[in-house]
Amino acid sequence: MNTILLIILTYLIGSIPSGLWIGQLFYKTDIREQGSGNLGATNTFRILGKKAGIVVTLMDILKGTAATILASLVFFADSGIHPLIAGSIAVIGHMFPVFAKFRGGKAVATSAGVVLGYHWPIFILLVVAFILCLKVSKMVSFASMFASVVAFVYAIIYMFFEQDYFLLLIITTLAAFIFYRHRANIARIKAGTEPKVKWI
Ligand code: G3P
Repeated sequence: MNTILLIILTYLIGSIPSGLWIGQLFYKTDIREQGSGNLGATNTFRILGKKAGIVVTLMDILKGTAATILASLVFFADSGIHPLIAGSIAVIGHMFPVFAKFRGGKAVATSAGVVLGYHWPIFILLVVAFILCLKVSKMVSFASMFASVVAFVYAIIYMFFEQDYFLLLIITTLAAFIFYRHRANIARIKAGTEPKVKWI
């Protein structure tokens, strides 16, 4: 029972389309109809501005963290679901949200939230890698993919010291999700047409 409840709960948490709801509620704007059409934090920044962008970034991170921590709680202790699996279900919810016709985001912020809930040092490393790469490339998509590769390398090194094979497996899966969801961005990066940010 707990297992099914946890799967449903984490999927629903991940499914919360923060960018869509904040846009519709406070700006009367559907961010799916503008910019990249993505429901994520980047498109929220692009269309609705800094304030909404920050809120959506935090909410999307929180979805991954909440799902991961939920699986560690006493109530779900016998669910048999590893916290990283619970977090990954939230990432799947974020990419395919039941509340937004299964058309969701690109897995970046929610995946970062999962590692924050499980092993916070990687989160810090990710944020630093993301900011440094964004400063140089000016492309959020490129910086997001770069940060996921940095997490992958960290997980390999961590595995040698702590034998956490599962962390490596999940980070590899989340990085694969991120690259897959950025197919259109990768094509634009190759063509030199990916939008660049000016504010960093
Ligand atoms: O987190 C998504 C970001 O990496 C790219 O978003 O809207 O530029 O496709 P977008």
